Amino acid sequence: PPTQLAARGEHAGHGAAHSGAGVEVAELTGDISAPADVRFELTAQRTELTLASGAKVEAWTYNGEAVPELRVKEGQMVEVVLANRDVEAGVSIHWHGYDVPNAMDGIPGMTQNAVKPGESFRYKFRAKQTGTYWFHSHQQSSEQVEKGLFGRLIVEPAEEPSPYDVEETIVLHRWKTDRGYRTAFGLEDGTRTLPIPSGRTVRLRIINTDNLSAAYLLQGTLYAVTAIDGTPIRQAALLPENTSFQIGSGGRYDLTFRMPGGPVYLKAGAADDPEGPVLVLSPDNDAPAPVFQPPSGSFDPGSYGLAAENGVTTKTAKFDREFRMIFGNRMGFYNGVFHFLWTINGRVLPDTPTFVVKEGEKVKMTFVNRSLAEHPMHLHGHHMTVLKHNGKRVATPWITDTLNVAPGDTYEVGFVADNPGMWMDHCHNLYHAATGMILHLMYD
Ligand code: C2O
Ligand code: CU
Repeated sequence: PPTQLAARGEHAGHGAAHSGAGVEVAELTGDISAPADVRFELTAQRTELTLASGAKVEAWTYNGEAVPELRVKEGQMVEVVLANRDVEAGVSIHWHGYDVPNAMDGIPGMTQNAVKPGESFRYKFRAKQTGTYWFHSHQQSSEQVEKGLFGRLIVEPAEEPSPYDVEETIVLHRWKTDRGYRTAFGLEDGTRTLPIPSGRTVRLRIINTDNLSAAYLLQGTLYAVTAIDGTPIRQAALLPENTSFQIGSGGRYDLTFRMPGGPVYLKAGAADDPEGPVLVLSPDNDAPAPVFQPPSGSFDPGSYGLAAENGVTTKTAKFDREFRMIFGNRMGFYNGVFHFLWTINGRVLPDTPTFVVKEGEKVKMTFVNRSLAEHPMHLHGHHMTVLKHNGKRVATPWITDTLNVAPGDTYEVGFVADNPGMWMDHCHNLYHAATGMILHLMYD
């Protein structure tokens, strides 16, 4: 029963037990003995959602809401009680990009049981990273994320209030509706106008919950990218006019700008959906309809600013372990069904390799994409510093938790093994993960 699971987590905080070679159970739960500073309840439930266009979604949501937001402060002890009203397969919460202790990672079959209707599970962790994150169910996640079991997680710095006058968090999602698939900012699948007086400073946080990367155009102002996947960019500068940017599946970008005298337009579209939604920020009520210029260039995080330090310095890093993943395709069976498969080193789960590390090691991981599709590779519990792209050192390494690897591309990333447990590393095109494009990183 779920109450028992929660109680076990509580006691484990005192660190008496051993989980096996080298890793203390207390490390897997984190120290959760302190009382919660902030507490949320999320109840998974079947919900009918209606997009702005009138298209209807047979959704599954947390609390009956599309894209709920949890907003906390750095340093707070966060407690989230997940309940399940009527989602039969059971649900969980994975804190995407948030490096919580392993027992709070929300992986049914690995770190907890799926929460079935009538049951509950308590997550508790200290908010150590600031920035833009999201959360979603990790039970049958291909289906459950598509249907709406996700939300926003925003962690503000402890000390100061926001340095921006206006903050907006936008989620790009592709909904399966009674009129076919529709891409929307939240529930807005057309044009939405948001009034903002000119002169105000704006921070726009963008979260891509779709399975594919999406291209974005922001026109009408110069802007800077001030964070990627929750990690601030040091020395962020204004980009040249009409620069587009791309956010991979699961990724987040923070943009900042000063509201000009005229309207600002944001448009987004998955590669296969050029008719994406449009957000209009306007100092007056009747902004003219947007006319998008073709982009003059596209943003490259590898030659922009410096991300925060991640323990893996660029030129000097010596690695204790090196792993290599080669992505490919083949036909084969998965769960007894013949599929077109996306493979890692020729294999799919459960035959994919398990990468074994020891706590404290510096790890290098190489991704080689010899397949026909992009693969946004998401490593749980850790952040990766991007070191090389197609054999060349990137000028300004950036830190990511979900790295989009395009067909034909090779990346080298580094990370410090500083979060013991058993972790997933998988493609965040959740259709690919659903047929086995997953491996595990395990601490010895
Ligand atoms: Cu956002 Cu393993 O997932
Ligand atoms: Cu993939």
